[in-house]
Amino acid sequence: MNSFIKWVGGKRLLRNQILGEFPTDFSCYVEVFGGAAWLLFAREKLAPMEVYNDINHDLVNLFRCVKYHGKALQEELSWSLVSREMFQESLAGYQSSGLTDIQRAARFFMVVKCSFGAKMEDFSGSRVSLANTVDSLEKFQNRLRNTIIEQLDFERLVKRYDRTGTLFYADPPYYQVEGYYGGGFKEADHIRLQKTLEGIKGKFVLTYNDCPFIRELYKDCPLTTLERQSNITSISTEKTYREILIKNF
Ligand SMILES: C[S@@+](CC[C@H](N)C(=O)[O-])C[C@H]1O[C@@H](n2cnc3c(N)ncnc32)[C@H](O)[C@@H]1O
Repeated sequence: MNSFIKWVGGKRLLRNQILGEFPTDFSCYVEVFGGAAWLLFAREKLAPMEVYNDINHDLVNLFRCVKYHGKALQEELSWSLVSREMFQESLAGYQSSGLTDIQRAARFFMVVKCSFGAKMEDFSGSRVSLANTVDSLEKFQNRLRNTIIEQLDFERLVKRYDRTGTLFYADPPYYQVEGYYGGGFKEADHIRLQKTLEGIKGKFVLTYNDCPFIRELYKDCPLTTLERQSNITSISTEKTYREILIKNF
């Protein structure tokens, strides 16, 4: 199924190509940079143990509310109208202190859902169907029933779940466009990620934008190129946009 939100860098268009590169034998699946979890939602089950992780507190709170308080979140959202005023109000207020986790998740959901390109800046227009997604939240709650939800920096997460049977799917902020996620991810973090993944007991599949810096960083790993149509958040003006997929197996 599709994810319930769009997310900058979300793997909607590439999910089947990426899934085709997964090994067949893994007992634990870890989505290290979860975002909208397009790969996780693409399958009914990927492994007996599944982990979703992201460092973004609001995103993780939304996933936790879908999982643990699906009905209450639906109820909270049932009052939401898709309008510019409502959007501006949610944008200004979703991080206010004094909100419950469910109220905060509802406002955050509204902002992501109704913003242009899911960038959480401008109202995308009133044609977004919030009601359909809200009605379908139950199926996402079911999908997440056995998924562990974490909010950790990638290095701690990888160390915590690294075993021979683990598959890590890592889709970090892309090199030199890290600003989409608050700009907290720096060149040193790309290097730290390579060091973290180097020599793990488990397997990893990693996706990145195609650039010399990343190619050089992973020059000892098998690498495949992936192509997809450009979207509005691409850094390229070309019709197709090239990404690379790197593995350790
Ligand atoms: C390219 S997006 C992932 C998109 C996701 N694969 C999807 O299909 O929607 C990268 C994600 O990494 C998260 N992130 C940034 N720094 C992180 C860190 N140090 N540890 C874990 N997650 C991080 C961001 O919040 C963002 O959601």
